[in-house]
Amino acid sequence: MEKIDFKGRVAIVTGAGGGLGRTYAIELAKRGAKVLVNDFGGSRDGSGGSSAMADNVVKEIKALGGEAAANYDGVHLKEGGENMVRQAIQAFGKVDILINNAGILRDKSFTKMEEDLWDPVLQVHLKGAYNVTKPAFLHMRENGYGRIVMTTSGTGLFGNFGQTNYGAAKLGLVGFMNSLRIEGAKYNVKTNALAPVAATRLTEDIMPPDVYKKLSPEFVTPVVLYLCSEACQASGMTVCTGAGLVQRASILVNDGVFLGKDPTTPEKVAENWAKITELSNLKEMDGVMAQSIEIMKHYA
Ligand code: NAI
Repeated sequence: MEKIDFKGRVAIVTGAGGGLGRTYAIELAKRGAKVLVNDFGGSRDGSGGSSAMADNVVKEIKALGGEAAANYDGVHLKEGGENMVRQAIQAFGKVDILINNAGILRDKSFTKMEEDLWDPVLQVHLKGAYNVTKPAFLHMRENGYGRIVMTTSGTGLFGNFGQTNYGAAKLGLVGFMNSLRIEGAKYNVKTNALAPVAATRLTEDIMPPDVYKKLSPEFVTPVVLYLCSEACQASGMTVCTGAGLVQRASILVNDGVFLGKDPTTPEKVAENWAKITELSNLKEMDGVMAQSIEIMKHYA
């Protein structure tokens, strides 16, 4: 296997001042990429802000002989995304790789989930990915090359108590990817999603201490590096990884039950419920058109 390197490549990693993003930025730079290290520098819930986090990672990269520049914009702002892409192009000439990684948490059970907890989480994760991806994608499309990684999460894919806001945002990113991979296909812009599990400040009080110790972010980094390398020809994949295990998650459909060419009754749905929900003969749908064709085949 040829070594995966990033010589001549330019990457933007959002939220790269700590946790997972820091390890992505450092490893990309070690393998030759020029990296724009973005971090707003706030606390875990998104409040505050400082330049120190991004600056420290840039210092680390430079000490290792790599090339990097710091950016302190918030992904939650449209101008933040535009500034980041502009700065990367001005400093390094282009953008080949975007890792949408910045994130915050504002957990509460749903009865207490007020807008001050819901809106900022959606704003940073989902709108934040839009804010940076839009200018980056336009540029990548012109260059005929791009690798975009969305950071989803087990909460979005599978659910978690107290995280309706975060889960909605995180699965929203999978929906974002599903359509962007179709729009990017002819420009060689591949978009994939990652659901990491790692010990960071985001998870320190969520995971039991003995589990937390085994989950170094360094286990996640090789998977991300592969996803944003030229070697990766996949697009639209959701990859779950942590502590050395790498898996694919996917939305699949079963054969279902065709209830007839005339509209049916709720009783008939109830009668067939077990068969309708049975997870066997699962298949992927290559876009919504494939799903429509699947439905209409009963009329062929
Ligand atoms: P972290 O809190 O260490 O890193 C997130 C970084 O994003 C922080 O450095 C923070 O300053 C930055 N950030 C927050 N808001 C920002 C904004 N508006 N603009 C720019 N930067 C901003 O947490 P961690 O764990 O490294 O998280 C990275 C990503 O992975 C997040 O998207 C998170 O939701 C996701 N994730 C992490 C999991 C884990 O087990 N650690 C599990 C599932 C998903």
